[in-house]
Amino acid sequence: MNRVFVTRAVPGDALDHLRSAGCAVDLWPVEQPPSWEELAERIAGADGAMTMVSDPINDLMLEGAPMLQVIANVAVGYDNVDLESASRRGIWVTNTPGVLAETVADFTFALLLSAARRVAESDRRTREHGWGAWSPTAFVGPDVFGATLGIIGMGEIGEAVARRARGFNMRVLYTSRTRKPGVEQQGLAEWASMDDLLGQADFVSLHTPLTPETRRFFGTDQLAHMKRSAILVNTARGGVIDQDALVQAIENGKIAGAALDVAEPEPLPLDHRLYSFDNVLITPHIGSASLATRSKMARMAAENILAVFRGERPPNPVNEPAPRNPRPDTGG
Ligand code: NAP
Ligand code: GLV
Repeated sequence: MNRVFVTRAVPGDALDHLRSAGCAVDLWPVEQPPSWEELAERIAGADGAMTMVSDPINDLMLEGAPMLQVIANVAVGYDNVDLESASRRGIWVTNTPGVLAETVADFTFALLLSAARRVAESDRRTREHGWGAWSPTAFVGPDVFGATLGIIGMGEIGEAVARRARGFNMRVLYTSRTRKPGVEQQGLAEWASMDDLLGQADFVSLHTPLTPETRRFFGTDQLAHMKRSAILVNTARGGVIDQDALVQAIENGKIAGAALDVAEPEPLPLDHRLYSFDNVLITPHIGSASLATRSKMARMAAENILAVFRGERPPNPVNEPAPRNPRPDTGG
């Protein structure tokens, strides 16, 4: 019987699906995530793992997991997994594309609107200090309708954000690793160099994965090229921004604000400077958190695990693992 370690309770029918396919599901029993040591200990005896973005899976951990055949991340990003190590050890790594872009784009727009129109800030102030006198200058912010949006990373989520911007009559500029003729032909966005995009955008929204090329790529220079009136939105990964540079930019009024669903590290410690600014909105990595989407993501992860156990190529691989050595328990 294949044993699957699941690092956190997931919504929907994913775990029942694994059980009904004959797997023994070892579910991490508490809300607090496993420590690295606990994760390593549970993965050591598993044939498959269903993991979350917050589970760091590194080479040392995989060295101690000789039975492991598949790591199914319940996420589209997989920067938490050492892909090279998994591939070398013959372990599949899979993700969940195609089911979360609309949900994350909804949330990106929620952040954008909320930062522009100071929704979280005014709610916080009203609860803490009361309603106060109505004032024509209280909580004024920029218009979203008709503004210019800059999208960096035109993939599934970037495109879904661009589609939403249409309804707000926004001009959308984008830059990405490669140009997207389909996006341009549909009139969703215009290609721009990074400098042009930063110089014109009223809102800049980040949608690249976290890779060696994108790590801290958004730093002092990029922030300096933004308009002083512009707002930065990040639902990608905290690591794509140089956070110290962002703190400086906010403190010195180089940009008007930021809305961040992701940070580095996660959880962001409560004494972090970013929490001290009224014009920085912070949410705890909940971009894909609709019940339907999280259920679909978990179900996809289960399907990937079961395909590997059947000896098939999983539907959503992000690596090409080396051929496996004979399994140590069977001797071949
Ligand atoms: P995707 O479809 O793979 O799109 C990513 C885009 O980033 C691709 O279009 C790619 O460009 C572009 N890109 C990659 N490297 C780049 C670089 N060095 N410079 C410029 N552009 C680059 O992925 P997605 O589904 O849109 O998701 C994007 C990221 O969002 C994920 O990797 C994940 O980190 C994050 N995410 C966060 C949440 C959340 O809850 N906050 C939820 C889901 C995803 P090309 O196509 O031009 O190669
Ligand atoms: C969430 O952050 C994801 O990558 O799906």
